[in-house]
Amino acid sequence: MPTDSRLAADELQRIASELRDNWHTGREVDFEEAVAFHESLPPGKRFAPVLESADRPLLQPRAGVPCLEDQISLLEYLQEDGGADLLPTTIDSYTRDNEYEKAEEGLAASRNGEADELNGFPAVNHGVEDCRRLVRALDAPIEVRHGTPDARLLAMVTLAGGFQSFEGGPISYNIPYTKRHDLATTIEHWQFVDRLCGAYTERGVTINREPFGPLTGTLVPPCIAIAVMLIEGKLAATQGVRSLTLGYGQVGNLVQDVAALRALRSLGEEYLPDAVTVTTVFHEWMGGFPPDEARASGVIGLGGATAAVAQPDKVITKSPQEFQGVPTKEANAAGLRTTRQLIDMLIEQDIDLGGIDDEQRLIERATRDLMDTVIDAGDGDVAQGVIRAFDSGALDVPFAPSDAAAGAVLPARDDDGRVRIFEFGDLALSAEIREMHAARLGERAETEGRDQSFRMVADDVDAISDGRLIGRPQGGAGDAD
Ligand code: 5AD
Repeated sequence: MPTDSRLAADELQRIASELRDNWHTGREVDFEEAVAFHESLPPGKRFAPVLESADRPLLQPRAGVPCLEDQISLLEYLQEDGGADLLPTTIDSYTRDNEYEKAEEGLAASRNGEADELNGFPAVNHGVEDCRRLVRALDAPIEVRHGTPDARLLAMVTLAGGFQSFEGGPISYNIPYTKRHDLATTIEHWQFVDRLCGAYTERGVTINREPFGPLTGTLVPPCIAIAVMLIEGKLAATQGVRSLTLGYGQVGNLVQDVAALRALRSLGEEYLPDAVTVTTVFHEWMGGFPPDEARASGVIGLGGATAAVAQPDKVITKSPQEFQGVPTKEANAAGLRTTRQLIDMLIEQDIDLGGIDDEQRLIERATRDLMDTVIDAGDGDVAQGVIRAFDSGALDVPFAPSDAAAGAVLPARDDDGRVRIFEFGDLALSAEIREMHAARLGERAETEGRDQSFRMVADDVDAISDGRLIGRPQGGAGDAD
């Protein structure tokens, strides 16, 4: 079982030389020469300093197409027509599964045909030099955004290729994304990724790391998401990462979202070492979207409004075409502009919302319960503790497909639309906190004149795409038909 200790230099070397042979572009990676490439980049392309010195929330979309020239023009468009401050490169699904042969076929077919045969940019297949062409061509910093449980080769190639920010983590890119990867193995794989980022950082090339906060994207109770961010942050810090952007996905209740973002920042600063610069990222709603583009823009607008009040360092935007999957570039830019409009109109207003402090205290107490349990379960070692806590269900993620999580926790909204916990399973929350959640859900059940049940959970999962926040029964007992 891995422990939360720094990977030794010879281990880093040994693993890197093994990975080099997984795909031929791995052999192009030369760390010393890569450091020199990063040093040649102008300040405007350096991810961590741009993000950390910003005086307003920076906007970043998701975007990835298979061919290099198309990826360059897509990102240019999102910067110019969407006003993106930070750029992404979203990696295709074959690469996420380490299926480089299949990615190669898809890339060849995309180059020869009209249509894109991959759902993202296969950076490993493109190799170091093409990544550098991309980085040279754009004016803004670019992040690798993916969803890869074993991202070791992807990190080697893209960091050598000039990217300075890398999304994901051992829990957040395992539990919500796959069924079969065991947590001990993904922790080891991400210790390599984080150590590599640490090695660049020690050479003066700060690599920003961004654990994936939204997890399964649907009704994730803030305390669970924040605990995972703190654990991944601690694991990364041990490996020498010094720029960490902790994430959180919009749940749609304005007070709870603002409270959660404040809790995320304050607990991040408390739990992570002083040497780490902590920033936060807010993801616009990651659950099901309304098919109607006008309504989808409403969901995005609420995200922008929330960001204006909470002021995270970064916002990951959605597009009005979210319902249909990967958006056109026009829709992607529209999501950016809608968000910008809301932020710019609201950010200078002094908005005083009731209840934020109480909600933040509640989130922080619940998160501390989870963190204490994880740290105790590992006798002070967070790597061992998180493995044991997921094993026992003391830490759990709702709707997770992974065998590594109990998947026993079920969330539902309370009468105010805040996400509470309906089924706790073995989640390590105190009796007092459990009672509070049960009481809030009891109020809702009373309002709706029905029992708390799985039906309520399912109604909430569909509510936003159906045009509401809370999945209330449609048509009450009084509606004769
Ligand atoms: N380009 C743009 N967005 C993408 N997403 C996934 N792949 C891409 C891509 N290549 C988005 C989905 C969804 C989120 C999980 O990622 O549309 O919003």
